[in-house]
Amino acid sequence: MKNWSREERYRVLKSPEEIRDLYERIKKTPYRQTYHIQPVTGLLNDPNGFVWHDGKWHLFYQWCPWGAVHGLKYWYQTVSRDLITWENVGVTIKPDCDLDNKGAYSGSAWPEGDKLQLFYTGNHRDPDWTRIPYTCMYTLFDDNTGEKKAEPLFGPHPDYTEHQRDPKILFDEETGYYYICNGGQTKDKKGCMLIYRSKSLSEGWEFAGKLNVPGFEDFGGMWECPAIERIGDKDVLIFCPQHMKLIHRGDVTNHNGYILGTMDWSTLTFTPDGKFHVLDFGFDSYAAECANNSPDPASKILVAWMGLPDSSYPTDEDEWSGCLTLPRELRIRDRRLIQVPLPGLEALRGDEVDPADGILPEACEMIVKSDGGNMTLSLFTKADGTGGIMIYYDAAWKMVTVDRSGLTKRFNIDQGEMREHPTEFPLSTMRIFIDRSSVEIFVNEGDAVFSSRVFPTEEEHFFRAEGASGVQIWKIRPAVSDEFIV
Ligand code: FRU
Repeated sequence: MKNWSREERYRVLKSPEEIRDLYERIKKTPYRQTYHIQPVTGLLNDPNGFVWHDGKWHLFYQWCPWGAVHGLKYWYQTVSRDLITWENVGVTIKPDCDLDNKGAYSGSAWPEGDKLQLFYTGNHRDPDWTRIPYTCMYTLFDDNTGEKKAEPLFGPHPDYTEHQRDPKILFDEETGYYYICNGGQTKDKKGCMLIYRSKSLSEGWEFAGKLNVPGFEDFGGMWECPAIERIGDKDVLIFCPQHMKLIHRGDVTNHNGYILGTMDWSTLTFTPDGKFHVLDFGFDSYAAECANNSPDPASKILVAWMGLPDSSYPTDEDEWSGCLTLPRELRIRDRRLIQVPLPGLEALRGDEVDPADGILPEACEMIVKSDGGNMTLSLFTKADGTGGIMIYYDAAWKMVTVDRSGLTKRFNIDQGEMREHPTEFPLSTMRIFIDRSSVEIFVNEGDAVFSSRVFPTEEEHFFRAEGASGVQIWKIRPAVSDEFIV
């Protein structure tokens, strides 16, 4: 694997021409996605600034142009009218000032009149490489021009470590304040959320305090990308605790999950109503973000990076990595979140394929029905039915297991090659979205979702289903432009 020097990773992109050849090369490689957002070149990680504004969904992502490496980060913008088909717009926030000299890191967006206000972390490093994270603002105008605010909204809080980032902006009607939630870490290395408030989006920000979450004072070493979302009459704390292990999650130490509860902004206390749940039970999902300003108060739209920090992927050698999950609708059922594919996705269905052929089109949707008995579904097997990714349902334990060790291209093996999760009710359906290098499995109408990257070889495009009561497959039409717009 390529060894990147610091100079190479943090090189400033001066002109799109510097990466045009790279794009032309990457475009021809086998694992480019067809209906998932992916980077034109280089690395994509967190979704940022997801918001409904001006009749469109705006969705940005963390982007490093040079290759599959976490280096200098830009905000790259895509837009959609329906959350299904997406257009590339190009780079929005460039790390081109002293505040963000080593990256425009993650954040969120809030509409203000006809402008979109973007809040992000300016990842500043001094010449001796000391990090100073600033919370910064960028205004995006209707004609897609923009302007950076010269001064940060605020700098790092001195009582916490340098790990303070990922501003999520929200408004609370009761207190009449805007709040910015930043991920943080206490000096004794415990993950936390730091809250700032102001009556105005662009000035007057003051530190309100650290979020109290009784019972979660010692839960992971840093909380990345935290947010408090209101769904119906419940609050949800969504965050990524790092440096810890969880049951059924192999040796992974970066997680994305949530706690349901009640938020009291006047005391900055989030009272949990239950335990920490993992958001997505697959291998590759992190830094999920819910759209701000979405029209339906009873649900949220969530999208995540289909990848993990500290990991490598087979496309790294082709100098690109990462894609986003399909946006999903989040709702609360009993005391848990359920996640379902968006209703408009059916419109992407093309020809229906006969499952008796046992062939998997490279981009397809599959509905597998079950009467609740044991089931084994192998996707991306070879023609003789061997290998592939195995999805088992064990009726006695109501346990879904996904095992990707049978694929020829194995990766991140040290994190474990099996993920499992018990379902609440016996298995009735799996709705599966397959693209050239990913598989997203929605179990029992949103009870659980498993999102994973997979890199099947040319021979691995067959499937086998044992114990299923029905299988339907449709080809899926391309929905995301892969145009060279920078
Ligand atoms: C999460 C994260 C964020 C940070 C960004 C940098 O994946 O580490 O905390 O803002 O990625 O790209």
